[in-house]
Amino acid sequence: MKKRFLSVALAAAVAMSATACTSNPAESKTTAAPAETKAEETTAAEASSEGEKKEAAADGDLITVGYAQVGAESDWRTANTESFKSTFTEENGYKLIFDDAQQKQENQIKAIRSFIQQDVDYIVVAPVVETGWETVLEEAKEAGIPVILSDRQMQLSDDSLYEAWVGGNFVKEGETCGDWLADYLEKQGRADEEINMVTIQGTIGATAQIGRTRGLYQAAKAYGWNILAEESGDFTQAKGKEVMQSFLEEYPELNMVYCENDNEAFGAIEAIKEAGRTIGTDIRNGEIMVVSFDGVDVDALSCVADGEISCIAECNPLHGPWIEKIIQMMEQGRVPSKYTYVDEGMYSNEDIASSITINGSSYLIRKVNPELLVEHENMQ
Ligand code: AHR
Repeated sequence: MKKRFLSVALAAAVAMSATACTSNPAESKTTAAPAETKAEETTAAEASSEGEKKEAAADGDLITVGYAQVGAESDWRTANTESFKSTFTEENGYKLIFDDAQQKQENQIKAIRSFIQQDVDYIVVAPVVETGWETVLEEAKEAGIPVILSDRQMQLSDDSLYEAWVGGNFVKEGETCGDWLADYLEKQGRADEEINMVTIQGTIGATAQIGRTRGLYQAAKAYGWNILAEESGDFTQAKGKEVMQSFLEEYPELNMVYCENDNEAFGAIEAIKEAGRTIGTDIRNGEIMVVSFDGVDVDALSCVADGEISCIAECNPLHGPWIEKIIQMMEQGRVPSKYTYVDEGMYSNEDIASSITINGSSYLIRKVNPELLVEHENMQ
């Protein structure tokens, strides 16, 4: 057992929950940035741990964290990497060993093994796909190194192989996007329009792909939309463009494209323009409507402001502070919540509603206006 990680028995004795989340993802509470819950949750132990962190950093006794990142395939991913790099600094008491797996599971497995060899204190993994992790996680467990998941999830026969997960609710993101579309068409008296949709999926087998595709299928079934074809664009702009080019050739009747992230949407927009088709919501007269996910940067939000993307279901990449909070709890022998869902909303340029309610949870719809663009520019 690693020196920094108290045994489960000891931890259980001082168990406290990080947030209102439960071990059942469906029941977990949606949460915003850790700072928002800080006031009610800060304890004397946490306050002293801040002091201890600084002292430890000054002593050079840093907590070593290995982060097995998916890659650099999207703007979302870049923002996620940045969130880790700016959180796990030496000044904050950490040594971060960062590995970019270039979207390959075998590289992530190699990185985890190398973290084990380096005897890191914690391993954080953003798994590229959900399956195939059992063996390497067993190895981490044998070495006594706790594993925390960020972003996507893993399908495991034994969930005790990881301590906690932080990320977005991908099925809900897909449902939100579908419900926004239905709401938009209905409020304009256009619910009877024939929807011929194509889907540019994310990396097949990734939680974000599985959830968003599932959300779309539920909406398509509920509202009677046709899904003509689906193909993976691997969450990249280049592949998104390539897939859209082939869809445009094969399905000239398509009038809507569901892109499972903004970078694929950028590629699809290029392909639509190059094919001489028009982007917009007047689908009855030949325009093609684009919807997407993430909403991380000004480029994507500008596309919403310009009407090139009709709506974006937000996916929040700022996981660094959440993971740090989990590590700090574990340092104190406390048991973190198994699942933490980060706060997510919706972006649109249409004035149809200010929120959408799905299974009792309300999603804020933010209208993309110049003020919001400036706000995002300042954040970058
Ligand atoms: O898993 C989150 C997804 O991965 C983001 O939507 C996408 O942009 C990224 O590559």
